[in-house]
Amino acid sequence: MKSTLSLSTYKFYINGEWRESSSKQTVDILSPYLNEPIGKVQAMTKEEVDQAIHLAHQAQKNWADTELNKRAQYLYQWADELVNKQDEIAETIMQEVGKNLKDARKEVIRTADFIRYTVEETLHMHGESMKGDSFPGGAKSKLAVVERVPLGVVLAISPFNYPVNLAVAKLVPALITGNTVIFKPATQGAISGIKIIEALEQAGVPKGILNIVTGRGSDIGDYLVEHEGINMIAFTGGTKTGTHIAKKAGMIPLVLELGGKDPGIVCEDADLELAAKQIISGAFSYSGQRCTAIKRVLVHENVADELTALLKEEIEKLSVGSPEQGCTIVPLIDQSSGDFVQGLIEDAVQKGSIVITGNKREKNLIYPTLLDHVTENMKVAWEEPFGPVLPIIRVKSDAEALQIANKSEFGLQASVFTKDINRAFSISNKIETGSVQINGRTERGPDHFPFLGAKQSGMGAQGIRKSLESMTREKVTVLNLS
Ligand code: NAP
Ligand code: G3H
Repeated sequence: MKSTLSLSTYKFYINGEWRESSSKQTVDILSPYLNEPIGKVQAMTKEEVDQAIHLAHQAQKNWADTELNKRAQYLYQWADELVNKQDEIAETIMQEVGKNLKDARKEVIRTADFIRYTVEETLHMHGESMKGDSFPGGAKSKLAVVERVPLGVVLAISPFNYPVNLAVAKLVPALITGNTVIFKPATQGAISGIKIIEALEQAGVPKGILNIVTGRGSDIGDYLVEHEGINMIAFTGGTKTGTHIAKKAGMIPLVLELGGKDPGIVCEDADLELAAKQIISGAFSYSGQRCTAIKRVLVHENVADELTALLKEEIEKLSVGSPEQGCTIVPLIDQSSGDFVQGLIEDAVQKGSIVITGNKREKNLIYPTLLDHVTENMKVAWEEPFGPVLPIIRVKSDAEALQIANKSEFGLQASVFTKDINRAFSISNKIETGSVQINGRTERGPDHFPFLGAKQSGMGAQGIRKSLESMTREKVTVLNLS
């Protein structure tokens, strides 16, 4: 099947204008399953980045001065435009990052809902006032007015796997609170990013409030992150990139959403059928290319055989192939990701793991692979594959499961499967992750829940309310009454 996107060269967008780069250089965007270019984006120069940031600053004051209900109207309109354009945007997501059309469409609708909820949450957020005399020696004549104010220009850097949702999850809290934005999409995801800007433009927003910067992170990333015009950075991506950014960012407020190695802990008393269904959905949707995917199973040895059989049965029901056929297991984002996942499988097999199903590859399409008897000396026990491979590690007790769960450098989410609520809480209390799901798959949503990673999985928190807080700061004005 050929790309239905015309092989366009997309322009970048700053100050309300679509422009070509003076570099005359572009980056080809290759579809992961069509194996052909579907478009080109501009490789911007450092001078163009400077200009974008300068213009974003110029626009920020007026935008922050615009009444909140007016900013809200623009953003509601943006949500409506995304819904209107859902077919076009979902098709772009599918062709650009290889997500099946149903999930791509869900991503667009979820994003429109995210915008509306964020706007409503902001409309209902109010500051507070504090009287001085509640502190010993403080005077009644002092009254503090505590408000939240924008930070200035926010740099939003998004990953490939949710090119619309994880971009807008940064853009909308920044905008509604009066910041302006420099948006750096993942290069593989930049066309989807451009489509959401087109939708915003339709909403008639003032120029300069949202600017898209395209070009490879390896070329312009450091320049952006270290730029003195950036007042806050919201980043989602790999731990390696996030750590690199944290070192460069200095005193700039930073929220990092990074990688994970989420364990699914299955206790001896678990409902194994439920656990198997949730684990497979958690591990394999979009070929495991989710930060929240279940990336290892820690199962009690007394139920391991039964669970493994159920997991095998569920895996064999997964559809494998093209996103255009609605498959769950689709080609990975590129060949090198395929090589990496295949390398993890081969390392495990060579060290004695048993392949229950899978271990088959066609280019960057990796068949869903279940590995049993994985041990701690295997790379797949620790590394984030971002692909469809699930290692099973057999344990003798909850304590051993916890010990292996917490030994990971990552701490995004975990699932615990047990029928005993006390046991569930006892395990949950000891797991070093941002969230724990009891008897359910690991996942981010609903999007108003706080979402955060411990250890190498992140810094700061997202989730609608939390994002609004991280993109603003408190400002205290003290009235000294006579
Ligand atoms: P990535 O390679 O780290 O890239 C993420 C973003 O960083 C891209 O926009 C990339 O641009 C940019 N970038 C690269 N080098 C940069 C630099 N020096 N300075 C500034 N930006 C730079 O991650 P990915 O492959 O897109 O996404 C997969 C990873 O993201 C996985 O590890 C996954 O777990 C993680 N993730 C985490 C969450 C979460 O919420 N915790 C959610 C989704 C994904 P280019 O594309 O141009 O290189
Ligand atoms: O890839 C990271 C996303 O934040 C995961 O979202 O759990 O809804 O798929 P999800």
